[in-house]
Amino acid sequence: MRNPKMTSATSLLFFAINFACIRAENSSEKFVKLECKTEYHGVYGQQSILECVVKPVDENVTIITVTWKRVGAAADNLLEYHKDKMIPTPGFKFAEPSWNKKNMNVSLLLTNTKMADNGEYECEVETDVGTDKATPSLSVTAKYKTPTMSSIPDTNIQENTIVTIFCNSTGGPQKGLIWWFDQSGTNCTESAELVAKETDDGLFSLASNFTVKATSSYTNYTCKVLNVNEALEGKASFEIQFVSRNLGSKAEKLDSVSTPKWLVPVVVIGSLIIGLLAALLFFKKRSAQRGHQTDTRHDDDVEAKGLNSDSS
Ligand SMILES: *[C@@H]1O[C@H](CO)[C@@H](O)[C@H](O)[C@H]1NC(C)=O
Ligand SMILES: *[C@@H]1O[C@H](CO)[C@@H](O)[C@H](O)[C@H]1NC(C)=O
Ligand SMILES: *[C@@H]1O[C@H](CO)[C@@H](O)[C@H](O)[C@H]1NC(C)=O
Ligand SMILES: *[C@@H]1O[C@H](CO)[C@@H](O)[C@H](O)[C@H]1NC(C)=O
Ligand SMILES: *[C@@H]1O[C@H](CO)[C@@H](O)[C@H](O)[C@H]1NC(C)=O
Repeated sequence: MRNPKMTSATSLLFFAINFACIRAENSSEKFVKLECKTEYHGVYGQQSILECVVKPVDENVTIITVTWKRVGAAADNLLEYHKDKMIPTPGFKFAEPSWNKKNMNVSLLLTNTKMADNGEYECEVETDVGTDKATPSLSVTAKYKTPTMSSIPDTNIQENTIVTIFCNSTGGPQKGLIWWFDQSGTNCTESAELVAKETDDGLFSLASNFTVKATSSYTNYTCKVLNVNEALEGKASFEIQFVSRNLGSKAEKLDSVSTPKWLVPVVVIGSLIIGLLAALLFFKKRSAQRGHQTDTRHDDDVEAKGLNSDSS
């Protein structure tokens, strides 16, 4: 049998050693590890996520503090959680919708990525078993949008008149290019003029105009938007709106082979009204006949046939 005093002394010593070990391990070896990738990619105007997850050695870990901030920025933390209190900044939140202190996924979500969000971030986590931090960076890219096209004049263009076609796009991070092609695929960029402007969000807007003498055999033009590395980011096609399909004298225009668009509903509605009137007439006649003579079977059939051939 052991001496009870010895036992307590041993356990005290054991406790002391253990405590020292924990303290030592806390400063050198970690009980928690914060894992993030070194670089994340975001797109201007979209959501971005900086994925960081706490990897505890022990299963039951509680998070005490999380801070997300920009490295080297004098500004306040982007997101801060400390002892059940959350201090967010508009545009930044935990990626996990209902994050809580038991959730080891402390990823940061940027709800609307700006060019200025490009850079290095720092995430620091304090748990009941230790702390760790990481510095992932975000690289933000932007792309030109699908171009929009228009022309001056826009409609009723006559043969051999001068038409200016526009091709505009916005959203590139650097000065891009606009190339023009006619319907046979010939590069006609030489005859176009490009104006690039920097917008207040640090992005560029491109406006290219292409002037052409309109001929009905060449109506379709395509423009392509390319980034600074000449990679295609969007394209659009435009058809010059001539007066009518077969150009020439006014007489020709009048008896044009193509049915004008407005004529279709007019014809449909017109025949509907005629049909309704015929039906009304038919029923009126029939009821009149019913009143005068009882055996009208044969007459009805004739009337119905007449109506059918009328409406077809
Ligand atoms: C985790 O630890 C807390 C106190 O530190 C305790 O209340 C809880 O029951 C533990 N949970 C599990 C699953 O062990
Ligand atoms: C962390 O949470 C985000 C948002 O819910 C999710 O997209 C991501 O996959 C999660 N990461 C891990 C490792 O669970
Ligand atoms: C394109 O830009 C030009 C010049 O800024 C403008 O006149 C034209 O209306 C624009 N066209 C479209 C489709 O936005
Ligand atoms: C189109 O023409 C422009 C200007 O001449 C030139 O820079 C570009 O490389 C050409 N593109 C193609 C696809 O030929
Ligand atoms: C114009 O030409 C392009 C490419 O040849 C084609 O994809 C497009 O459908 C055409 N557009 C019109 C309005 O005819």
